Amino acid sequence: MKSKIEKLKSEMLSTLKKAENHDAVRDLEVKYLGRKGDFNDIMKSLKDLSDDEKRTVGKLANMTKTELEVAIQKRYIELESAKLGKIVDTEWIDVTVPGKKPLVGHRHLISRFMDDLEVIFAKMGFDVASGPDIEMEHYNFNQLNIPPDHPARDMQDTFWIKNLKESVLRTQTSPVQIHYMESHEPPVRIIALGKTFRKDSDATHSPMFHQIEGLMVDENVSMANLKAVMTHFFQQIFEDPSIKTRFRISYFPFVEPGMEVDCTCPICHGEGKVENVPCHLCKQCGWLEIAGAGMVHPQVLENVGYDSEKYTGFAFGVGIDRMAMIKYRINHLRLFFENDLRFIRQF
Ligand code: PHE
Repeated sequence: MKSKIEKLKSEMLSTLKKAENHDAVRDLEVKYLGRKGDFNDIMKSLKDLSDDEKRTVGKLANMTKTELEVAIQKRYIELESAKLGKIVDTEWIDVTVPGKKPLVGHRHLISRFMDDLEVIFAKMGFDVASGPDIEMEHYNFNQLNIPPDHPARDMQDTFWIKNLKESVLRTQTSPVQIHYMESHEPPVRIIALGKTFRKDSDATHSPMFHQIEGLMVDENVSMANLKAVMTHFFQQIFEDPSIKTRFRISYFPFVEPGMEVDCTCPICHGEGKVENVPCHLCKQCGWLEIAGAGMVHPQVLENVGYDSEKYTGFAFGVGIDRMAMIKYRINHLRLFFENDLRFIRQF
């Protein structure tokens, strides 16, 4: 009997070593230690032994059974931790590796530049007005004193819209002047920024570009006010308090007198050269042509129902892209719109 116990024991221990998964161990547990298992058979046959033998063999049988139970539990644990070990080996992550940054974009230089313009004018008490990109001929031209056959229409190569009668992609932001004055009484102090469109395309012209329009109408508004506002504007945007402005006579149908506004070159400060090197930005002339401007034509004031005897005003229009080119020393207009990230990311 004793040798039978020993044999069962060594048989089970050696098969247990080869059991590679939970189910195989479970099968062994049932086969040897289960209610109908080999060990129970031994226990049952103890009753046929003498009392003496019962005591020694019984004791051995009990001890062996406990030993085998412990071995089974150990094997379960071994298999379980091997399984976990495998998971740890194959599914680990290194939490110290630097993370991948999500790609975050930023606003386009022109958009940010337009915000800067708004801030400068907000500090001078100007509101921001806006109008549609597709504009009625009435607003883009007629109300601005440019009737249908007026030669001034040729100044602006216009995109007409097929099948939408009398509509254009606005060639200038000036129609916002009309929209605003039609719905507001003086005093008026606004700027309008946005896209404008003309059939031009070369290094300094793009069929879509941006303008900022300014309009101030009140009693006693004069060219002195215009000059003060323009000068302050240029000094602020180019961050140079030494900038001066000058007016040159010009023609726009909706202003009288009309003028071009120049400012001293922010690179050479009007000298035409920097340390004896000719200034490339102003081509040595010391001045940059920046804006169109003038005193609002009395006819335009009358067109929107203002009393032109009582009120006067000034208006100006500036190409935003060109101003940004000057400020950020960009030599090609189309860089703004080609969306080459190597360019965009620099600003
Ligand atoms: N709208 C004119 C242009 O685009 C500029 C301008 C605006 C001139 C206001 C005078 C007054 O050329």
